[in-house]
Amino acid sequence: MEQKPNWSNKTIFTGDNLPVMRGMNSESVDLIYLDPPFNSKRDYAAQIGSKAVGAEFKDTWTLDDIDVEWINLIEQSQPALHRVLLAATSNSDKSYIVYMAVRLLEMHRVLKPTGSIYLHCDPTMGHYLKLMLDSVFGRKNFRNEIVWHYTGGGRSKSYFSKKHDLVFWYSVSHEQCTFNIDQIRVPYRESSGYAKSGIRHKNGKKYLPNPKGTPVDDVWAIPIINPMAKERTGYPTQKPLALLDRIIKASSNPGDVVFDPFCGCATTLVAADDLDRRWVGVDISPKAAELVVSRIEDRQGLFREIIHRTDIPKRSDLGKLPPAASPSNRKTLYGEQGGSCAGCQEHFQPQHLEVDHIIARTNGGTDHLQNLQLLCGHCNRIKGDRGMEYLRVKLGLS
Ligand SMILES: C[S@@+](CC[C@H](N)C(=O)[O-])C[C@H]1O[C@@H](n2cnc3c(N)ncnc32)[C@H](O)[C@@H]1O
Ligand SMILES: [Zn+2]
Repeated sequence: MEQKPNWSNKTIFTGDNLPVMRGMNSESVDLIYLDPPFNSKRDYAAQIGSKAVGAEFKDTWTLDDIDVEWINLIEQSQPALHRVLLAATSNSDKSYIVYMAVRLLEMHRVLKPTGSIYLHCDPTMGHYLKLMLDSVFGRKNFRNEIVWHYTGGGRSKSYFSKKHDLVFWYSVSHEQCTFNIDQIRVPYRESSGYAKSGIRHKNGKKYLPNPKGTPVDDVWAIPIINPMAKERTGYPTQKPLALLDRIIKASSNPGDVVFDPFCGCATTLVAADDLDRRWVGVDISPKAAELVVSRIEDRQGLFREIIHRTDIPKRSDLGKLPPAASPSNRKTLYGEQGGSCAGCQEHFQPQHLEVDHIIARTNGGTDHLQNLQLLCGHCNRIKGDRGMEYLRVKLGLS
């Protein structure tokens, strides 16, 4: 059943998007656009003197970055995603894949059955990301691989200059998803004879050009933001409004909810607001929220009602849950685990097992039964509020 959002329209969260998404209601979003770090092995910082000074984000990955609990989670419940992980050829790539995998699972959950996701990346990790999207959304729900071609910047003499990004579009369902082709038609080429007079088919029927233009194809030539452009904030990796305008028009309708979990300087949110969509965004950098506000103020107080949050939303779609350690939860978990501790696997009497959150509440973990397990007192104390993998390593389990 479609759920109501448990945040207000025009909210920006500052924080890691994983716990924020874990706290968002299922099936509450119509369209997700994400432009995550690309694993480019660079650390980005904003240009000195720009509005975005202070904004920086890490784009280098080591295995230390992984909360190893995630690997465990993926291995146990997402075999297809786990196979992508096994295909990674370096620890850095593996770390990036795990980081994205857990987040893509949450994005799939928060999208409505009619929803779509557009994942923006470059060829560095594009091949892995497409396999991950196949695993999470299903291959049959792949709609397009959009090539965003741009010019400008330096040219290489050692290889073909890299002048494109990739945007993968997947829908949640194959049967029903929004696609407003008429909203995103582009002018016919000037040299097009068809545009001037249409064509007459050999069966005698005459086809006339559409006054709104021709359907756009999957290679988009949209200029990058030039240094003098009005929309430029100086935020590293800022994307052009024109790109987001096309995506939002194509795959959502006025009033729909648009969500950007890596919203940077809020390009998606600005475009969504211009098009009368509701919106919500997250960015780990506090600078991002500041920029949203100033960017919006520059646009005639458009975002006056903007809400800035740093907490984790509490899901309101789980119904009334019993407290984590309720007798009914204990009984179900005891049955599911066959009376054994989820750590050391030893058998205990019910009174010697304690209810533990698999994903800590501080990380967006809920009191839902799926997020609970029983541990013996000894294991629970070793684990503390860390992930299960920590406990496994400590106990010498594989
Ligand atoms: C490529 S930029 C997005 C740029 C954005 N599309 C724009 O036009 O400004 C990636 C963003 O992801 C943010 N980020 C990185 N890790 C994050 C995380 N775990 N949670 C939320 N945001 C994160 C960074 O701070 C950065 O702003
Ligand atoms: Zn134990």
